[in-house]
Amino acid sequence: MRDLKRDIAAQLKQTIMTVYPAAEGLPEDLSGLLEVPPDPQMGDYAFPCFKLSRSLRKAPPVIAQSLEAAFDAPETARAECAGGYLNFFLNRGNFAQSTLKAVLDAKGRWGAGTEGEGKTICLDYSSINIAKRFHIGHLSTTVLGNSLRKIFDFLGYKTVSINHLGDWGTQFGKMIAAYKHWGDKETVEKGGVDEMTRLYVRFNQEAAENPALEAEGRAWFKKIEDGDEEALTIFKWFKDVTLKDAMRVYDILGVRFDSYAGESFYADKTAAVVEELEQKGLLRDSEGAKIVDLEEYGMPPMLILKSDGATLYHTRDLAAALYRMNTYHFDQCLYVVAYQQDLHFRQLFKVLELMGYDWAATRMKHVAFGMVSYEGQALSTRKGVMIYLDELLTRAQEKALEIINEKSPNLPDKEEVARQVGVGAVVYSTLQNGRIKDIDFWWDRALNFDGETGPYVQYTCARCGSVLRRSGDLQNAAPDYAALDNDEAQQLLLLLSRFPEAVRDAANKYEPYLINRAVTDLAKAYNKFYYEHRVLDESDPAGTKARLELTQAVQEVIRTGLSLLGIEAPERM
Ligand code: ARG
Repeated sequence: MRDLKRDIAAQLKQTIMTVYPAAEGLPEDLSGLLEVPPDPQMGDYAFPCFKLSRSLRKAPPVIAQSLEAAFDAPETARAECAGGYLNFFLNRGNFAQSTLKAVLDAKGRWGAGTEGEGKTICLDYSSINIAKRFHIGHLSTTVLGNSLRKIFDFLGYKTVSINHLGDWGTQFGKMIAAYKHWGDKETVEKGGVDEMTRLYVRFNQEAAENPALEAEGRAWFKKIEDGDEEALTIFKWFKDVTLKDAMRVYDILGVRFDSYAGESFYADKTAAVVEELEQKGLLRDSEGAKIVDLEEYGMPPMLILKSDGATLYHTRDLAAALYRMNTYHFDQCLYVVAYQQDLHFRQLFKVLELMGYDWAATRMKHVAFGMVSYEGQALSTRKGVMIYLDELLTRAQEKALEIINEKSPNLPDKEEVARQVGVGAVVYSTLQNGRIKDIDFWWDRALNFDGETGPYVQYTCARCGSVLRRSGDLQNAAPDYAALDNDEAQQLLLLLSRFPEAVRDAANKYEPYLINRAVTDLAKAYNKFYYEHRVLDESDPAGTKARLELTQAVQEVIRTGLSLLGIEAPERM
């Protein structure tokens, strides 16, 4: 594939070496130094000449001027100096032709790569807790993790997606005790997670009056730990009921996991880790508990065993990290978890490092994200400040269906399109900003389908499809790329040519919103192009063919970008 940015970089390098043979310390490839000017009027790429002024002992404008005079590559671009910058204006005809060829030859995989071949990435995301209803507090991790998995797949990595279930702890003993006292099979089957929560709440209320219940709860948990058949059967059933609810949400969102090995999976693997910590001289006694002291590293100690010998979330995460390394030999292990757990992960990585696992510092990464609140308030089930995911997705789909019924009542597959659009709205708004930013959830915002939203981008993609369907014989003309010599088309071509960079940026920074921005920019630019130019023009088949190729390229790249976010693009809407 011909990459005009690379070409400019190569020509520029040659020019510099001719004009200033003494120039030193230039990188092999200058592409990294080329910038995108803030205003397209200033060119498609710019080279800031102050990067050379030090080694050449010349003022940037002087350098810019001499480079302008010597830059001679009309096939690629023309150069113009402006102050200390050398601005490049691509040869539009060539640029259009090579960009469209590259995009269309990629057949829906423009931006895909092979750089990940032979490398494995573990992604720990969603990681819901058993017997808790799936609420918007777990939306970011689910949607971010799913998108990151798709992005890394697209770049050729082998990905392992892991739902590290929160399925271990004394609360499950209490739940069994409560179930034995006041529950019955049918009510739990019907009421699902809500019913389990009710039982758990009742347990805590009654235990306040009747402390003997606490002991019962502990005894049941001990039975789980010891593998007692009755305890395990009930516990497993609680898990199945929770997962059945979660699975409905995963199905609607199109999220899947390679592994559901959660905390309970590691329960029998913690003893070996404790033993290893002991052998490596890292364990300290602290009031009967076992800890790893991290004071030297400015962190509170990591609690490994409670005074009653019970393991902790920490301990199971240590076992999980080692298990994942031994099983998957990962090059990276990502934890897509809220930033509140920052300390937990810093401690985890540090303790692994102290155990002698050097990879912990370089291969493990906490991909943190911001907090979710609801209309300005912290989420709280108790205070009723809560949005459940199934409810959110249902309402988004209903709203989408309402709009479809109003605007395109004859659309085939309305229900399916409503699902795609409803999910599109929710996922898009979750991935609209950098992940560390807190999200305040408002119903009217989440269900807004105008302006910069998922449905707007999906609609633009469908609009491209409709143009292509109406094109008929014009598809068969030979293209004349001169028809794309206008600012609107040029802007689209630039965005298309930069899409692969956006994908890599998103992967390197673990920031799907960069792809969100790329598809949104494309959609906006296409709509601008569409209003300013007549795409289908019978009297100009060659120009039409060029505009159709552009339209198809935009459609394919938007579809690719949306799919990397976890959003489908309906054919029609
Ligand atoms: N279940 C935990 C929670 O809901 C998240 C687990 C994240 N993964 C992990 N390996 N610690 O907060």
